[in-house]
Amino acid sequence: MSFLIVANWKMNGTRSSFVDFIGKLNDKGNEITSKLVICPPFTSFSDNVKLNNNISIGAQNCHYKKSGPYTGEISVEMLKELGCTYVILGHSERAHETDSEIKLKSETAIGSGLHPIICVGENAEDNKNKKTKEVMEYQCKNRVPTHGEYTIAYEPIWAIGTGYVPSNNAIAEMIEVIKSSTGKKHIIYGGSVSLDNIENLLNISNLSGVLIGSASLDFERFYKIVQQVEKTYQF
Ligand code: PGA
Repeated sequence: MSFLIVANWKMNGTRSSFVDFIGKLNDKGNEITSKLVICPPFTSFSDNVKLNNNISIGAQNCHYKKSGPYTGEISVEMLKELGCTYVILGHSERAHETDSEIKLKSETAIGSGLHPIICVGENAEDNKNKKTKEVMEYQCKNRVPTHGEYTIAYEPIWAIGTGYVPSNNAIAEMIEVIKSSTGKKHIIYGGSVSLDNIENLLNISNLSGVLIGSASLDFERFYKIVQQVEKTYQF
């Protein structure tokens, strides 16, 4: 499996900046062998964006119902119509979501042919109290579907947008906990991934990808991270 690089733009970027970003990525063509999933805001999706084979578009949320009276929500069919094939679910910045909602959303996405990237991760207090393993097992049991194609992103809440990153050993250990709790082989990491730490993170032997927030907004910065991955893996 190719190394997975997910760009989560959160509430940043316009449609024109997205079209420009994708155009630059497409131009890199054969230089990239990793799998790239770019997740801009819904309003940036554009019908006429052409994508190279290894580039996909992802959303940052979806509803678990197919349609209905859910003001401000978006359904998987609406996302598919926009050419979206992935969806990030359970991100901690959507803090009001329960584990069971995340599971329902994941099941709906899988059932409709979207590939969910399901986030799990402990908060600072649980990390401090050494409850990370317990929290991971609980979240894997309660927010992750029992079947279907999906990816899990280990995202410690205290590492998101803070510049703090767990040690490589701590990430590797949690990846093993998630693997044995879910039976999934490929787990990715997210939380303050940047050009400064990517080289070190790539030493984690059981890491299958990264989810990048702020460092994915600027094309040049993002592409340097992609190049580091390409250099390390030499597919
Ligand atoms: P960050 O965001 O890279 O800005 O910490 C990560 C994320 O969205 O999970």
